[in-house]
Amino acid sequence: MSFNDEMFESHISIASSTMKRSVIRELLKLVEKPEIISFAGGLPAPTTFPVDELKDIVTTSLSKYGNIMLQYGSTEGDSRLKRLLLKRFMDKTSVKNLNENNILVVSASQQALDMVGKLFIDRDDLIMVENPSYLGGLSAFRAYGAKMIGVDLEDDGINIEQFEEKLNKIYNSGKKIKFFYTIPDFQNPAGVCTSLEKRRKIIEIADKYDFMIIEDAPYKELRYEKEDLPYLYELDPSGRVIGLFTFSKIYCPGLRLGWIIAHPKVIDKLVIIKQAVDLCTAPFNQIITAEYMERGLLEGRIQKNIELYRKRKNLMLNAFEKYFPNGKGIKWTKPEGGLFLWVSLPENINTEELFFDVIKNNVAYVIGSAFYGDEPKYNSFRMNFSYPTEDKIEEGVKRLGEVLKKKLS
Ligand SMILES: Cc1ncc(COP(=O)(O)O)c(C=O)c1O
Repeated sequence: MSFNDEMFESHISIASSTMKRSVIRELLKLVEKPEIISFAGGLPAPTTFPVDELKDIVTTSLSKYGNIMLQYGSTEGDSRLKRLLLKRFMDKTSVKNLNENNILVVSASQQALDMVGKLFIDRDDLIMVENPSYLGGLSAFRAYGAKMIGVDLEDDGINIEQFEEKLNKIYNSGKKIKFFYTIPDFQNPAGVCTSLEKRRKIIEIADKYDFMIIEDAPYKELRYEKEDLPYLYELDPSGRVIGLFTFSKIYCPGLRLGWIIAHPKVIDKLVIIKQAVDLCTAPFNQIITAEYMERGLLEGRIQKNIELYRKRKNLMLNAFEKYFPNGKGIKWTKPEGGLFLWVSLPENINTEELFFDVIKNNVAYVIGSAFYGDEPKYNSFRMNFSYPTEDKIEEGVKRLGEVLKKKLS
C-alpha cells in the first residue's frame, strides 16, 4: 500500500493529530519578502551576537577541551557552567542556598517547557496561564493534553481576583490545577511586568491551593527602566516554583542553551525526562559559554543589549505617538524591559482581518488571538522592537499608522 494522507493519519497519535503549526511561524513565511518591515518575530538584534569573542573562545577551547566538547556530556550539564550559573544567580538574588542538585542545563527554554509539560500533565489536566501568554509555552502544554484556563493580564500582572475566583470554582468542583505558568518580567507577548504585591499574592495563593508555579524568565535581565523585582523563585520558601532561564535573549539563541533552577526532587525527575529527549545539551555550546562567562564578558554584553533595546523601545513608543491616529481608542503597553509591546484596538476591530491590509502596506505584526490559552480576544497585536533597526522602526510604524488611520476613520 502506498503512502497517502488517510493511511498516515490513521497511524499518528491523538496528541500529534491535534497539533497545529504555530500561527506565528506560518505568518512569518508571509513576511519574508524583503520589502516588508516585520515587527512580527521575536528575534534579538544580530549585532548583539559576540562573534569576534566567540571566534577566539572556540579556537582556544577546542585546543584545551576538544575531547570533552565533542563528546557526549552528562545530562545534568557541564559542571563549570552549572557552578557559574548558580554563583551568578546567588550573587544577584536573595537566594543563597543552591547547589548542583538545584540546576539542570537544557537546550534552551523551549525544551524546558516541553519537559515541564511531560513532568506534570496528564491528558485533560487543568493548568492556568496568563491571557495572553507565550505561544510556545501554550503549544508545549497543549501537546500533553492540558486544558488551559486563562487569567486576564493587566498592566501590573494577572487579575488576582479573577485568578482566585477561577481557582475557587475549580477546587469547589472537586478538581485542581497542576500548575500556573507565568512570565512575570516583560511578558511575551504583552511586555508587562508583575508587581511585587502581585508576585507575593501569587505565591500565597499557590500555597493555599497547592499548585506548582512555572516561572519563565527569558527577559528578566533586560530591564530598561525602574528597579529590578525579585524572582517568584526568591519569594517562595516552599520549593513550588520552577524557574526557567535562557541565554537566548541575553547572549545567542543559536546556541540553544538554557537552565532550570528548582527543588532537587524536581530536577531529579527532569533529568530522567531529559535523558529520553536528547541525552544531554551540546557540550560544545556549554563549554564555550562557560568560557565566555568566566572571561567576564556576559555582564558587558547584557548592558550593551539593554542600551540598544531601550533606545529601540523608546523610538517605537515615540513613533506610535507620532503616527497612530489620536483619540480612536488605541492603547499600548509601555514596557520597562523585554522585546515586545502589545497594542489593543477598539473591540470591533479584528486584527486577523486587518493583518491583510497591513501586509499590503508592507509591514507586519503578530495577531494577538494566537496568544490565548482560552477565549481569545481579536483586537490586539504584538510588536517586536529588538530586531528591526531604528530607521525600519520609524518607517514601519508610519506604514502601520496609515492602515490604522484608514481603518478607524
Ligand atoms: C516567554 C518565553 N519562553 C521561552 C521562550 C523560548 O526561548 P528559548 O527556547 O530560545 O530559550 C521564549 C522565546 O521567545 C519566550 O518568549
